[in-house]
Amino acid sequence: MLKGKNIILGISGGIAAYKSVTLLRLLVKAGAEVQVVITPNGKEFITPVTLSSLSGRPVVSEFFSANTGEWHSHVSLGVWADAMIVAPATASTLAKMASGVADNMLVTTYLSARCPVFVAPAMDLDMMAHPTTARNLATLRADGVHVIEPEVGELASHLVGRGRMEEPEKIAAVLDDFFSEKQTLAGKKVLISAGPTYERIDPVRFIGNFSTGKMGYAIAEEAASRGAEVTLVSGPTALKTSHAGIRVVDVESAAEMLAACRAAFDTADIAIMAAAVADYAPAHPFDHKIKRETDGIDTIELVKNPDIAATLGAMKRSNQRLVGFALETDDAVAHGRDKMARKNLDMIVVNSLADAGAGFGTDTNKITILTNGGGEYVFPLKPKREVAVDIMDHIERI
Ligand code: CTP
Repeated sequence: MLKGKNIILGISGGIAAYKSVTLLRLLVKAGAEVQVVITPNGKEFITPVTLSSLSGRPVVSEFFSANTGEWHSHVSLGVWADAMIVAPATASTLAKMASGVADNMLVTTYLSARCPVFVAPAMDLDMMAHPTTARNLATLRADGVHVIEPEVGELASHLVGRGRMEEPEKIAAVLDDFFSEKQTLAGKKVLISAGPTYERIDPVRFIGNFSTGKMGYAIAEEAASRGAEVTLVSGPTALKTSHAGIRVVDVESAAEMLAACRAAFDTADIAIMAAAVADYAPAHPFDHKIKRETDGIDTIELVKNPDIAATLGAMKRSNQRLVGFALETDDAVAHGRDKMARKNLDMIVVNSLADAGAGFGTDTNKITILTNGGGEYVFPLKPKREVAVDIMDHIERI
């Protein structure tokens, strides 16, 4: 989607400027024309030579070229661009943008830009948490600027907190999605459960299952790429998402998953229950490691876990859509219909372990979609990424 797009990459003076080099490379690799505009402080962190070599264009920083005395026209840049991304956006640059202090090329270009503008803030946690920064970001949002939220993590100061610039891959993905025409879920909130749950027996052992979360994560990325604001409630998995539109809530047990899903469901337009929730949990988990000799247990008493999909089904309002999964070994369609009715779902995605290439851990899946209006749609074996597209296409239709 970035192919042939004209993008201004604004770089201000923060340590995260080193990540802008990767962002520049990603944008150029995706086929975009990138013009770098850097603040005087930005040049302290990263050299214009690196940036001009990668972008294939002279880097703009001053109003006048030191060599030729030529005037750099922020106006023509502002008209040329299809999008402007300021990454990193420091507290000072955000403040200048919010109040129109045009004392450098970057802010001047911003004021002349007719295109959509994105900012990826990066600063220390206290600067990020300061009411001034919050106020400036609110002003920029109100002015239509897209804010790519910073992450929580270790900062240049070695303090841990919110203020780490979003990863270049995610920033590039946000821009890519913006230019994609399939923003069919813009403004919608989607809740997705994914992965297994672990039910503790003692501090080192659990009851779990073989779910890897791949299907749920693929659906989350597809929904986010259509513009949805996604909450991904994830059981323990090794997966990471590469999309800034996805908020991951990590949980371990079914009880935690239920609490996280309930909290997000109220404001959700669509909920997709792709998690493989353990049906039972140990009734009395040990608070210490069970010792073979001294504790010597033969049985573990189990209690039934809450049914998350059914709980949401009972809470569901008429403007909400609830989608479930059913992994079956036999009579998949009949069991799927039964589950859809029992849990008050609008649609259920059935996969059978009898089909080679379907189920846990695989990169492919073979699904049948059942809708509560009686629809039945059989799909061939496909990569999970493509299965996610089929599922989201269908959800948008029900
Ligand atoms: N599900 C859930 N909470 C549970 C169990 C299941 O939210 N405690 C959801 C799953 O995420 C899935 C659907 O319900 O969307 C069906 O899950 P499945 O395990 O196949 O169904 P069960 O109700 O557990 O039925 P059974 O074990 O009899 O097959």
